[in-house]
Amino acid sequence: MGSLKEKIVGAVAADLAAIEKRLEANLRPELDLVRDIAGHILFSGGKRLRPLLCLLMHRAFGGSHDLVLDVAGIFEFLHAATLIHDDVVDGAVLRRGKSAAHTLFGPAESVLTGDFLLARSLNLAAATANPEIISVIARITEQMAQGEIEQLRNRGNLDLTEAAYDRVIERKTAVLIEGACKTGALLAGVGREDADAAALYGRELGMAFQMADDLLDYTEDEKGLGKLPGADLREGKATLPLICALRSADAETVAFIRNMAGTEFVAQDFDFVKRAVEKAGGMEQTRQRAMDHVAAAKKAIGPLPDGANKDLLEMLAEYALVRKQ
Ligand code: IPE
Ligand code: IPE
Ligand code: MG
Ligand code: MG
Repeated sequence: MGSLKEKIVGAVAADLAAIEKRLEANLRPELDLVRDIAGHILFSGGKRLRPLLCLLMHRAFGGSHDLVLDVAGIFEFLHAATLIHDDVVDGAVLRRGKSAAHTLFGPAESVLTGDFLLARSLNLAAATANPEIISVIARITEQMAQGEIEQLRNRGNLDLTEAAYDRVIERKTAVLIEGACKTGALLAGVGREDADAAALYGRELGMAFQMADDLLDYTEDEKGLGKLPGADLREGKATLPLICALRSADAETVAFIRNMAGTEFVAQDFDFVKRAVEKAGGMEQTRQRAMDHVAAAKKAIGPLPDGANKDLLEMLAEYALVRKQ
């Protein structure tokens, strides 16, 4: 039996290929530099989770709208825009195992290309002539920008509460995935209750997805991550594994970690932190919270019609937890 990822990818291979083609067709910048920068991030091996969720949710409600691939692509353009911006803000040098766009093309050029992608998303949303869909897309951009700003303000604060962490990840990650799912449902012409169920599934999945991402930062190596591990601590970013661990680690360990946060620490010291976070239950508590969100996501789509699309949505919720990348 193949892995969960192989199973999912096997079942949606044709959809992923169609998404890929439509992203290329819809990028359409007038300037070569914009194409180079946007192309660098867009076609560098992203999993295409958000467009896929939009497409599957659409079909799970019996939809077959002409514009569904264009609309699904919106969420990859938004995702790419925010990753470009995020890497500038975080000073990240690697993304998907390659140089982050701003290190190759310059921060100003990269930020402006991110803006182009946001505008491209709104344009594609406008083509639906559906004010509710346009409003969802605009709200995502508002929320994500504010999530990143909030995260920036929290930088260096190792006393961050779990509630404050939740607020950040809801804005910066969950709202986008929620929007992808809700929009897929809306495009299928569903009523309020179904749109809310789709949105809830996406929000819960998004919360689990970011918690898993924050866990990977403490468990995976550079090869697996395609990013430098320990980046969150190096950036002075307190994420759930650390927040949980700091609550119960001994005073000496807490002091050691506080001193390291926001600095260019060596690998050996980070290995110590990883062991300390594990020992203090930070990994386990994060895993548990992510599992709870996955369960809530699956529950939200319980009332949907049974079938292959719903099965895939359930598998994708599980995948959020077991993914290594
Ligand atoms: C990375 O998202 C950013 C987070 C919200 C954690 P993905 O893990 O979906 O990134 P790609 O597109 O597959 O690289
Ligand atoms: C996720 O934040 C990126 C966005 C939601 C914009 P992170 O800073 O945790 O993501 P990575 O670790 O850079 O992929
Ligand atoms: Mg980042
Ligand atoms: Mg991260």
